[in-house]
Amino acid sequence: MESTEAIDHAGNLVRLLNVEELQLAGLIPKGGLYYPTIYYPPIPMYGGSCEAAILDGLKYDGSRPASVYIHIPFCRSRCLYCHWMVNVDSTEREVDDYLGSLAREMELWKEKFGVRKIHPRSMLIGGGTPTALSPKQTARLFRDLKTALDFGECTQVTCETEPGSLLGDSGLEKLRIMKENGVDRISLGVQAFDDESLKDMGRRHSSADVMKAMEQVRNVGFRSFSVDLIYGYPGCTPEKWLTTLETALSLDVDGFQLYRLRIVPHGDKVGTIKTRFDTSPEIFPAVEEIYVMKQLGSMIAGRGGLVETSRRLFTKGPAHTSHYLADHTDGLMDVIGFGASSWSNVQGRFYLDTGESLDRYAAVLREGTLPINRGKTRTADDQRRWAIAVTLKHNGVSKRRFRDLTGVSVGEAFPRQIECLRKYGLVEEDGDMLSLTARGRFFADEVVTQFYHPKYLPFPRSAYAEGDLNPFSHDPS
Ligand SMILES: C[S@@+](CC[C@H](N)C(=O)[O-])C[C@H]1O[C@@H](n2cnc3c(N)ncnc32)[C@H](O)[C@@H]1O
Ligand code: SF4
Repeated sequence: MESTEAIDHAGNLVRLLNVEELQLAGLIPKGGLYYPTIYYPPIPMYGGSCEAAILDGLKYDGSRPASVYIHIPFCRSRCLYCHWMVNVDSTEREVDDYLGSLAREMELWKEKFGVRKIHPRSMLIGGGTPTALSPKQTARLFRDLKTALDFGECTQVTCETEPGSLLGDSGLEKLRIMKENGVDRISLGVQAFDDESLKDMGRRHSSADVMKAMEQVRNVGFRSFSVDLIYGYPGCTPEKWLTTLETALSLDVDGFQLYRLRIVPHGDKVGTIKTRFDTSPEIFPAVEEIYVMKQLGSMIAGRGGLVETSRRLFTKGPAHTSHYLADHTDGLMDVIGFGASSWSNVQGRFYLDTGESLDRYAAVLREGTLPINRGKTRTADDQRRWAIAVTLKHNGVSKRRFRDLTGVSVGEAFPRQIECLRKYGLVEEDGDMLSLTARGRFFADEVVTQFYHPKYLPFPRSAYAEGDLNPFSHDPS
């Protein structure tokens, strides 16, 4: 298919979705505003303080599988769109100090949990850029991880990487160390096969660097290798996006994760992209074009035999999906996060590690205190909304499991939402499963905000039309 034909076809498919109807109904916020559901309640919104009793009675229960997240907050440069907690130009000493604090944090948690080791079911080492560490620091990180964690039951260890940090002998050595220590899935932040956009994004690598980095990853040999790509960036057109998708596919990756540019921050840090959007919205692609790009993503993935194993993650099959993502979404498993700004959900308690600064994180740990600065215990209301929002977005809600977890049926908990979503052809039921339809999958993030408590909705009521899918209309309070 020629590129214009593919783009026209994607445009026709988007028209069939009748976006206008969903805007008028209040499902899609006005002006193309977008906020993805990563978790529920949305991670930064646990209130400004920490419940005093948040950790009371908390015990680690090895029989409950949990995923582990490790945050490495260092990068070679700060990308314009990045809202994560990262530091650039850190000295060797600063990184070493952070690794020391991280090891201390894991020790304190083991003491708190009363265990010798924590047994992750799946793991993500992310950031930031874990491969911003030197080979020596990478080896130290894994020594510390193995002191605190037992990888015996871990089904997958994913490491996020950035192309420029994988080059040369040092890059190769880091990859070898990672492989020797059990990393079996590499996620590479490629973003675009377009040097002009990469430069504008503030990335410190070119497409040629990506090719070299991919060769290094292949030489070391990991069970699975996927790339992250972003669309909706200023200057990004359906044509450029199509080239990026086709190039990724031609490189025979095991999967790609397609991110729509997030302008509204999800955490405490606000990327420069937000100011750019506020001052020059005209340089961003129109939302209609963004939908065409999104549709192209599914089309090209399908053409290459990739399936959507978790929402927006297209892979050669379940073996290549992110177990970490699948475990805490579809699997509703606990998440134990370590590192500045990491989040956790352990036995019904949500909490966040301080992400203010590395100095603050280190200082709290030096005092022998756990570095949590915000948290809440899940209420019955949170439990219901969490159990539906994070599963429906991905592979669907098991009605039986929902009842077991909450004591009520999905229909009793959310009668209005489900009836309205069904009316617009966004969800469907098949036996035990409540799932998104093809139309619902396209608008998965918007559909699942229907289950948010109004206090956690990302935009004010006026951002949504006053139709029956206005997310504020479901909750009379
Ligand atoms: C935490 S980053 C880690 C990867 C690595 N640091 C890098 O950027 O190459 C994970 C992925 O999130 C995506 N991402 C980060 N900020 C984003 C934003 N504002 N909008 C959309 N996607 C974003 C990028 O695709 C990135 O590769
Ligand atoms: S997107 Fe990745 S490389 Fe860029 S600043 Fe954020 S974490 Fe670092």
